[in-house]
Order: sequence, then C-alpha cells, then structure tokens
Amino acid sequence: MRRLLVPVFLLLLALSMCESSVLQDMCKSVAAGHPSISYSDCIKTFQADSASATVADERGLAAIATKIAEKAANATSARIAALRATEKDARRRDRLGVCAEVYSDAVEQLGEAADDIARGGDEATQDAVTQLSAALDAPGTCEDAFGEADDASPLAPEDDEFTKLATIALAVAASLSPPPSTATIRN
Ligand SMILES: *[C@@H]1O[C@H](CO)[C@@H](O)[C@H](O)[C@H]1NC(C)=O
Repeated sequence: MRRLLVPVFLLLLALSMCESSVLQDMCKSVAAGHPSISYSDCIKTFQADSASATVADERGLAAIATKIAEKAANATSARIAALRATEKDARRRDRLGVCAEVYSDAVEQLGEAADDIARGGDEATQDAVTQLSAALDAPGTCEDAFGEADDASPLAPEDDEFTKLATIALAVAASLSPPPSTATIRN
C-alpha cells in the first residue's frame, strides 16, 4: 500500500503545482454556482492563457477570464463578417447583422470591463460586473434572431462557447464584489 501511495502523492503534488491554487479554488466556486460550467471546463478555459499558471489573486483571474472572452468575441465578430459577406439571402444577412451588432457591443463591453478590473476598487468592480452581464446577453440575442425565424443558427457553437466564457468571467468578477449586504442584490 505504501509503495502505491508515494507515487500517487507525488503525482498529486505535481498536478497541484501546475495549476495555481487560487485558480483551483475559483473554479471550484464557479462550478458550484453554475450547473452549466464544470470544474474541468473552467480549468481548461483558463489554461488557454499562459498567465493563468502564475496568477496571484482573484483580480488577476478576472482580468484573464475577461481577456479570453474578449478574444472569443473578436473571433466570432470576424466569423460573422465572413458569413455575411457570402450570404445571398437578405433576411439571413439581416439576422447575421443582429449578431454582428451584439458581438461588436460585447467586444466594447469586455474592453471596458477589463479596464474596470484593472482599475480596482468596489465601484469599478461593480461597473465591470455590469459590463460583463451586458456582454453575456450577446449570444442569446444572436440565437433569438435565428430562432424567431425558424432558421438554424450557423453560430450555435460560437454562441455556446461565448456563453460559457462570459459566464465564467462574470462569475469571477462578481466574486470580487463586496458582500451582498452592501451591494445591490440581483435576480
Ligand atoms: C479585440 O479587438 C479589438 C479591436 O477590434 C482590439 O483592440 C482588442 O485588442 C482585441 N482583443 C483581444 C483580446 O484580442
């Protein structure tokens, strides 16, 4: 038994050194609060940015998550532009136009959220949470444009992915906010 435990212990130690414990704790809390986000989804999301390995605190994690979501919003904006450029059906082009607008707004909102997070302090953190909540609306609005027309959305995978990334960024930023006794309680 002892012969087995030592290598297992060393393996666990090695794994824990690869991921910062501030990241592990945050992903545990994000997964616990959001049934749609698993712990491993959360860890994998942060691993997309090498800064996650050495991040020192929660504010740093919020900055990283916001940047990852912004990158995805940028990529989705580019994909929408490409789809629009080749779409022959005018009504479908209009639906893509709705998506282009909300993702362009999301890019701006995420940029402002990143600035707010960098500024720090309770008020700026609340502003970041507001911007991130607004950005999180983009994929639903985009999907609705297609859903209401009974048209299959060509952006379903991007919308799902962005929903996940923005949910993580919002959850991390919200965890920096003052406790509910002093903050406005939402939903
Ligand atoms: C997203 O695009 C904007 C301008 O279109 C750029 O300023 C920003 O750096 C990009 N963000 C990321 C994270 O790539």
